[in-house]
Amino acid sequence: MGLRDDVERVLISEEMLHARVAELGRVIDATYAAAAPPPLLICVLKGAFIFLADLVRHVEIPHEVDFMEISSYGSGTESSGVVRILLDLEQNIEGRHVLIVEDIVDSGRTLDYITRNLRTRGPATLRVCALLSKSSRREVEVPLDFVGFEVPDEFVVGYGLDFAEEYRQLPFIGVLKQEVYRGRS
Ligand code: PRP
Repeated sequence: MGLRDDVERVLISEEMLHARVAELGRVIDATYAAAAPPPLLICVLKGAFIFLADLVRHVEIPHEVDFMEISSYGSGTESSGVVRILLDLEQNIEGRHVLIVEDIVDSGRTLDYITRNLRTRGPATLRVCALLSKSSRREVEVPLDFVGFEVPDEFVVGYGLDFAEEYRQLPFIGVLKQEVYRGRS
């Protein structure tokens, strides 16, 4: 009932998400096993908050988290190309091993902006972990170090991803019915 009725189909189930997020945790453990100082995981709000929260519970090595809020979509379904920092990091990342944690990379514009911005701050290393990649929509080439799932060019919601600020709490990644976003984007 409710929000689930607006979902055409489940693309990535809760079980698949949990299994893949656990694997990504182990990859992060292996990647940063010898890192000093400990890596800093940067959650790109709002979409990545659920992914980060689940991910860090599978990361056993010492690490810190920080948050950045970026706006690129407004309430529509297309990237506007306008990227703004709504909330900046608390931490100075100079000399730090930084891992950007994103929910989805679509056109690549948001991530391109974030990586260019963070690079100017002098991190020791800068990597990207994206839960979802919609490669078919890429307009800007952005290297992704760790990817959870490749997704088709459909409107996906759930597990942190929204449409007009709704559907973030769905425990799976689902495809939104077209009639829901038509006329509202
Ligand atoms: C989404 C997503 C990425 C960005 C990806 O954020 O979290 O940051 O769009 O799109 P792009 O590759 O085309 O730039 P959104 O602006 O929807 O904000 P939210 O995370 O607060 O929901």
